[in-house]
Amino acid sequence: MRRSGAFAALGLALIFTGCKKAQSTPEDLFIENLLSQMTIEEKIGQMNQVSWGDWNEMARKGEIGSVLNLTDLYAINEMQRCAIEESRLGIPVLVSRDVIHGYRTMMPIPLGQAATFNPEIARKGARVAAIEATAEGIRWTFAPMVDISRDPRWGRIAESCGEDAYLTSVMGAAMVKGFQGDSLNDPTSMAACVKHFVGYGAAEGGKDYNSTKLTENELRNVYLPPFEAACKAGSATYMTSFNDNDGIPCTANEFILKNVLRNEWQFDGFVVSDWASVAEMVPHGFAADNKEAAMKAVKAGVDMEMVSGTYAAHIKELHKEGKVDKKHLDDAVRNILRVKYRLGLFENPYFDPEQKVAYVPEHLEVARQAATESAILLKNENRTLPLDEKKIRNLAIIGPMADAPYEQMGTWSFDGQKEYTVTPLTAIREMVGNKVNVIYQPGLDFSRDKDKKGFGAALTAAKQADAVVVFVGEEAILSGEAHSLADLNLVGAQKELVRALSETGKPLVTVVMAGRPLTIGEELERSHSVLYSFHPGTMGGPALADLLFGKAVPSGKTPVTFPKMVGQIPVYYNHKMTGRPASRQETLMDAIPVEAGQTSLGCTSFYLDAGFDPLVPFGYGLSYTTFAYDTPRLNTNQYGKNDVIKATCTLTNTGDYEATEVAQLYVRDMVGSLTRPVKELKGFQRVTLKPGESKDVTFELPVEELAYWNIDMQHKVEEGDFQLWINTDSRSGDAAPFRVIETI
Ligand code: BGC
Repeated sequence: MRRSGAFAALGLALIFTGCKKAQSTPEDLFIENLLSQMTIEEKIGQMNQVSWGDWNEMARKGEIGSVLNLTDLYAINEMQRCAIEESRLGIPVLVSRDVIHGYRTMMPIPLGQAATFNPEIARKGARVAAIEATAEGIRWTFAPMVDISRDPRWGRIAESCGEDAYLTSVMGAAMVKGFQGDSLNDPTSMAACVKHFVGYGAAEGGKDYNSTKLTENELRNVYLPPFEAACKAGSATYMTSFNDNDGIPCTANEFILKNVLRNEWQFDGFVVSDWASVAEMVPHGFAADNKEAAMKAVKAGVDMEMVSGTYAAHIKELHKEGKVDKKHLDDAVRNILRVKYRLGLFENPYFDPEQKVAYVPEHLEVARQAATESAILLKNENRTLPLDEKKIRNLAIIGPMADAPYEQMGTWSFDGQKEYTVTPLTAIREMVGNKVNVIYQPGLDFSRDKDKKGFGAALTAAKQADAVVVFVGEEAILSGEAHSLADLNLVGAQKELVRALSETGKPLVTVVMAGRPLTIGEELERSHSVLYSFHPGTMGGPALADLLFGKAVPSGKTPVTFPKMVGQIPVYYNHKMTGRPASRQETLMDAIPVEAGQTSLGCTSFYLDAGFDPLVPFGYGLSYTTFAYDTPRLNTNQYGKNDVIKATCTLTNTGDYEATEVAQLYVRDMVGSLTRPVKELKGFQRVTLKPGESKDVTFELPVEELAYWNIDMQHKVEEGDFQLWINTDSRSGDAAPFRVIETI
């Protein structure tokens, strides 16, 4: 098959290029040359992404810039051949798909990956996904999603890295690097698409697609930083979001798409709309019809439209009417061609459909490590975990998630095949089946099952056993896009199942596999140990078996705060202080006298019936060992704006397992020109220590990283007092004070 005609013609065309811009790079020359030959129809074609139709014919006519969800390997190459060999300019089509947390080999869902606090494993997971997906012709993925998610009702929290801007920035950037590899031009590299730009996770009441009301301060200080980090990491594309923020649908938000993304961040890739989000500006009530929607999106800077076809239908006419300038079109097409060029598609548009890379052992190993590091130990009373295979003769495995190969892959597992998933039941049998009598009685067939007919057998199994492990949670379909929930308790009869098992008095380990934090206060109370595993993917079973039997030690930390009850939401660690900061008391409900006079009861900003504390704070996770931290020591207590803060703390493994701890660095800016969060994560390190071993953990934090968008909407470090913590979670430890002084 030949190379793109456009690529072959480059040599000649360089001489004739008539672009005003200084033509410095071969890339610019190539793009300007191609652009100068394009008709308006061909330009509009590049701006059109489709998901159905006669791909070959559209490719031949130059009517499409990209396809999504075309998965037949031979059809992809044939469509590409039509574009390269039979279209007038031979421009390749960009083939895309939602490869969110794995292609065939599924990694834990992104929320689980965030729980590892290990960007390197996130990078490796994305690399595996890219290798597997590109082997099947996909060169563009719609990931990572870096929407700050402070609301577990929102189903898409599963796809996020949780509530924190810093953690999300670090993990999102690592994923971009993994997808894109060392160079986009490598045939195993996939262009990343950081999404959803912007604020989508703040949807009202956690209802998907709903409105957001984020101010510029909140956007710049909380929601935009992960997108900027992804830009710095080189993300080739951005996707707009469905929500209207403060009345403006993000698919037509010129301030965000032009001022911030293009001018401030100097982004030179392209922007795609979300699925039909251009046409959806009509139901939003922001455009009277599709034509107006197309005009608003293109002028705001949406270069490519995903599936709703309003560009293809209306831009030519809009241009004739003078409502869309040639410059708008040329800029959009330039951006798209630039990414295709960088992907090397003009040179190598085809792939070899015979490659076999899915589920190779190295990929499964990455998935296993990610799943192991993502599990969070929330409780371990009486050191019930790890289970001792020498002491346990009968082990009861109960619950609808113990052997649910499809469900444990989690949301966005289009291409993961459940036949390759290893469940906890299979892995436990394989690991200890020859020594321990494993009695499996699910009790319920699936998570929403309300039929308790299996309870009898499950309880009999539990009573015979020396220990019980119950696997509960959510089926994959209960989280993800358009799957928000108003109730976060365990679904179906799972609550009753855990309750009944706890009443047997047997050592009870509850493993939760879910797409979001659930309100599991009762289960935490009733179980001796709780291991929380956000849908852990293909290798979740072996990872959990390793953890349950102590072949691995838990090291995951909560990437999001767990509420006690839904009414506490939003609940996140880096909230503001308020004028009446809450104390830590539990509830006042029962303490209020009958016919109490109208009084504030000394109350602060908290709930009478839920208190102030969440169920589990951000950054929390236990280990089979214990760790001790001393108070952080600073190299000085006064810093100038160009200094680097050196903060050290001695971390000691005070227990008897070699284990990894995620040491977390938090700061608080005591007084600002705007009110500041009570704490902000600024760094973390995974540190592995042998029993009894101590290590000095040092963080070097440039003072400029204390900058924030202040009252004048300027990104600045403000002088004054700060506090700094290094500890095991967002709630623990003693602070070290320091000052930032302008004049130093
Ligand atoms: C989602 C995106 C996704 C796109 C393409 C939309 O509904 O919001 O995240 O990438 O569909 O499948």
